[in-house]
Amino acid sequence: MDHYAVIGNPVEHSQSPFIHACFAEATGQALRYERLLAGREDFAATASRFAAGGGRGCNVTVPFKGEAFALAARASERARRAGAANTLRFDAEGWFADNTDGVGLVRDIGRNAGVSIAGRRLLVIGAGGAAAGVLGALLEERPAALVLANRTPEKAQRLAAAHAALARECNVALRAAPLDAAGSGHDIVINATASSLHGAAPPVAAAVLRPGALALDLMYGPAARGFVAWAARHGASGRDGLGMLVEQAAEAFHLWRGVRPETAPVLAALRARLAGAP
Ligand code: ATR
Repeated sequence: MDHYAVIGNPVEHSQSPFIHACFAEATGQALRYERLLAGREDFAATASRFAAGGGRGCNVTVPFKGEAFALAARASERARRAGAANTLRFDAEGWFADNTDGVGLVRDIGRNAGVSIAGRRLLVIGAGGAAAGVLGALLEERPAALVLANRTPEKAQRLAAAHAALARECNVALRAAPLDAAGSGHDIVINATASSLHGAAPPVAAAVLRPGALALDLMYGPAARGFVAWAARHGASGRDGLGMLVEQAAEAFHLWRGVRPETAPVLAALRARLAGAP
């Protein structure tokens, strides 16, 4: 039986073992998937031990995505763009790094939420690792415009500059901004900050939302509730990051197993599983 894992710190609340067990059962793949807690300085040793023990690949979560990318011998274009990996495959020729977060988000917006990104006006709030992981995939969907707003504007400027060529290629007006110049009337607003994690109010004015906008927090569970409720209060459609979580996992499963699992039943099962959680 092939072994996979999610490595993080913390990792105990990760839903990835449940998701991959559902995928394995639905596709008839025999595999085992576990959680591995790595010490803050121990990602490389933990992943190496897992690979040496027969592990075929792993998902990588906070705070190791950048380190995972740096350790890999080869990487996908989308991982290079993000400078981070959420998925490793342990190949005979060395580790291969991928980043499935962006495609996971784009699929959740397009297929699960039923909202088209092409031609729309997008706002991404935040310019840390989470934003870097999804920006390239969003630009490739060819929105009309994308504003990248951040508390520290210089970080937004740097991230936008790193994506300027892609934005030009995709014909997207990409602009970096401080939070108080995030613009108004966006069709899709994505919260990629850690603000709601600390129970803070969304760091932008409600005018950023056009009526009926999609407002999506990359987090899920209690960490997303404040943003999702704020969106609903202001006439937008709030959505958490659970759909993205399942979609990024499906893409990782495809990378490892060559099989693309159905996601809708797993997302429904996961929502039901978490519904009773505090
Ligand atoms: P992650 O990998 O989750 O993106 P990160 O790289 O630490 O974590 O980035 C956190 C993001 O949340 C940053 O954009 C940060 O803004 P700064 O770049 O100014 O630090 C943003 N953030 C965190 N707490 C925030 C708050 N209370 N209000 C607004 N933005 C916040």
